[in-house]
This record gives sequence, structure tokens and C-alpha cells, in this order.
Amino acid sequence: MDITNLILNNDVSAGSIKNFNKLSNSKKVYVETYGCQMNFSDTEIVLSVLSSKGYNETTDINDSDVILLNTCSIRENAENRIYSRLGDLIKYKKKNPELVIGILGCMAERLRNDLLTKKKIVDIIVGPDEYRKVPELIENSIEKGEKGIAVKLSRTETYDDITPLRREGITAWLSIMRGCDKFCSFCVVPYTRGRERSRNIGNIVEESKRLFDEGVRDIWLLGQNVNSYRYQEHDFADLLRSVAIAVPDMRVRYTTSHPYDLSEKLLETMAEHDNICNYIHLPIQSGSDRILKLMNRLYSVKEYMRVMLKAREMMPGIGLSTDIISCFPGETEVEHRMTLDVLKEIEYDSAYTFVYSPRENTKAFDMPDKLDDETKKRRLDEIITLQREISYKINSQLTGKVMKVLVETVSRKSEDEYMARTDCNKSVIIPRTFNAVDNSGRLTEAKVINTGELMNVRITGANSATLFGCPVSAQ
Ligand code: 5AD
Ligand code: SF4
Repeated sequence: MDITNLILNNDVSAGSIKNFNKLSNSKKVYVETYGCQMNFSDTEIVLSVLSSKGYNETTDINDSDVILLNTCSIRENAENRIYSRLGDLIKYKKKNPELVIGILGCMAERLRNDLLTKKKIVDIIVGPDEYRKVPELIENSIEKGEKGIAVKLSRTETYDDITPLRREGITAWLSIMRGCDKFCSFCVVPYTRGRERSRNIGNIVEESKRLFDEGVRDIWLLGQNVNSYRYQEHDFADLLRSVAIAVPDMRVRYTTSHPYDLSEKLLETMAEHDNICNYIHLPIQSGSDRILKLMNRLYSVKEYMRVMLKAREMMPGIGLSTDIISCFPGETEVEHRMTLDVLKEIEYDSAYTFVYSPRENTKAFDMPDKLDDETKKRRLDEIITLQREISYKINSQLTGKVMKVLVETVSRKSEDEYMARTDCNKSVIIPRTFNAVDNSGRLTEAKVINTGELMNVRITGANSATLFGCPVSAQ
């Protein structure tokens, strides 16, 4: 799953950073995060490293001494957004020449030279495996005016000993592995994030218990490729089982997984434990075996379908989502239709759809038969329209049903509503207060709902992305 285009800056996200400012150092840091959940999780690591040196986080960019952009390279438009954001930042640097501007993450890794030579306002460039050096590089920039660059990839760095500085809330990301060894022919991740490495299983279990004690009720085990997790003799299913047993009242989910590593043992583990959510995000990328081969995806459509059918058979009602790349080099009209056919056959709850974006140094970059813009737009539109219809059909069939939800946060659209989530990962908008009915059918006083509550709601409406509901005792 990809949440490109989301910016995590302090005034957007719910809650405040806990335990920040243990030591005082008058420097204030403003961070913007772009891209996948891994980046959001990494930002929490960077904030933790900075906090241990006394830095404070600020929500006000005008009041900051350091601005950090945690960046994404997955597609060209993600990088263009950062270049344009750097243009915006010139005015802050003009106002305060002492301001330190840093580029973190995948773009730091991929475009270090370009950034250093062409983007003069950038002071420090730090790749995903060098976040321990961020404070030192900031100090050098402030004290000696030195440009700082740290972009070595590591075979061992997992930040296992660093407790991320999370925002208060019901949901937490828990990073369990880093990097990727799959080398899909379109993808920069193996180059920007390096080789796969997994965290110590015991430490992950301990961290989930600590999170539960701190009020978290929903954790996402996170990795570029979570299901290729391996620590000593333990695989991902072992880890998932250990976490589910250690925190039985916590909802446990994971993302993102690769079909090649999605074992029957993993499905059995999911089915066995009630607190492991019935939800799988499994990127298929294309409905054509020829394209999948060119993508180096290591599975056929038939093999993929077998896993999905098995998952549905073992966990009826399971939520399924996927990623699709449309218009891979040489994709024919027939192959595009094959992708549409897979969407129709599987009927995913949702899909993240992208037009193929050529990435330098990847294998696909030099593949011939790139498609014209009009074709790209049309094919993507067809995929999006079809998926929207499917999502709407599935969601509207849930109207009238009672579903158990976990109340997560105040809704982004209205202060008077909460966003809650079903086990199968559908968001449900519910009111923050409701009038319950007592045993004799009379309305009681307004009841206030709290985040972290698990409750039954009746679905009262739906669109293709969201459900709307009402607590059952309110009817
Ligand atoms: N172009 C378009 N989409 C891409 N993805 C990864 N690399 C590219 C690319 N070069 C998509 C894949 C992946 C998701 C995170 O991003 O669908 O699963
Ligand atoms: Fe990229 Fe493929 Fe690795 Fe996912 S599995 S991060 S798409 S190389």
C-alpha cells in the first residue's frame, strides 16, 4: 500500500509527540514526510534520535531552525513534488540564512549528487540507513557551515535499539524489517533502501507490549516486504503469532507483502488468531503473465489467484486490496484488459493504481515500447473507474449490516465524527456521541464515545471509499 502525497507534519496529524524535549537545546525541527508508511515510521526514528540530543519539534515552519523533508523516489511525480517544495523553502532560507535544510530518505540516496550540486539550499543529505548521524550533521552545518552527506547503505542497521517517537493515538506503525531483495524490474527500493534485514523477534514482541501499555490498540507490522521477515529460525508467520499471543487485546495487521512469500502457514496463523485482522494487501501489479515476468514478480496470475481464493476460503469476509501498475513498457491492449479481468474476478475492496514511471538504473528503464500519454491516461482511468464500481458495490452491500469497529481518531472532515475501522480495514464514519436506548426502549442521555473503544455499529450508508455507521444501541 502506498500513501504517496500524504504529508505528515505536525498540524495535520492527530495527537502530539510524546516525550519530546527531554533535554533542552533551543533548536527547533520541522519535519515533512512524503511517501510510504516506512517513511512515516522512519521519521519517528529520526525524531527520537534528535530528541535524545535535545532538539524540539515545532509545528510552525516559520519558527524552525531545521527543516527536514523525508522523501520518496518511487515515482517521478513524488520526486518532482520535493523539487518544487525545495523551491518554496528558498524564502525561509532568505529570511534566516542560518536555517538548516535537510533531505532524508530515498531521494537522498538516489539523487545525492544532483541535490548537492544543483540545489544550493540543501545543507544535509541523509539516506535511510544513516539516521543516527542527523544531529551531528546538523551541528556541523550550524557551527562550521559544512554541507553534510551520509548515504551509505547498511546490511545490518535496523534501528532495533531506538524507540520511535510516536504520536499519541490508537494506531502505531511497528517497523520489523528494512530493505528489499526482490528487485522488481520497475522499482528503486532495493537501490534506495538496500538489502533486506530483520529486527530481533524478542524486541518486536516487547515493543508491542509496551505500545499496548501506552494505549495503542492497533499495530501495523511494517516492512517493504514484511512476509520475507526472517530472524534466526523464525519466519513472518512465527513473528505474527508471537505478537498476537503477547498482546491478545491488540489488533495486529501488516503491510506490505509480496505474493511470492505469502505462505499457507501465514494464512493459517491469521485464521487461528482473532486479533490478527482479516485483511491482506497483496500487490498483483498486472493481470498478464508476460508482464509479470518482465516485472520480475516471481509468480503467475494463477498462483496469485490460488492464494487469494485460499485466503477467502479460510477467512470469509476478509478485506483484500492490491497495487496495480498500468502501462508497463510494451503492455498491449489485451494485457491491459487482463488486468481489468483480474479486478473483476477478485473483486478487491480497494486498489492503489499507478501509471508506470520509468526509474533510472532499474531494469525496466531501458525496456522499449513506452506508451503515449493519451493511452496511459485512458488505461489508468479504466482501471480506476472499474475498481470504484467494484468498491462501491461491495460497500453498499454492507448497508444494514452490524460490524465491529475500533474507534481510531476524530474524522478529518468533521469534529463531530470519529473515524473507526473494521477488522477487514474499512473505515467507518460514526458520530462522537449518540443517544442509547435503555431496556424499556427509552432514549437515555447522550453517550460519549472514546477512541480505543471496540463497538458494534450498524452500517447506514456507503460510498466507494468509506462506510457510515451508527452504534447499534442507538437504534
Ligand atoms: N512506477 C509506478 N508504480 C510503481 N510502484 C513501484 N515502482 C513503481 C514505478 N516505477 C508501485 C507498485 C508498488 C507500490 C508501492 O508502488 O505498485 O507496489
Ligand atoms: Fe519494490 Fe518489488 Fe521490493 Fe516491493 S517487492 S519494494 S515493488 S522491489
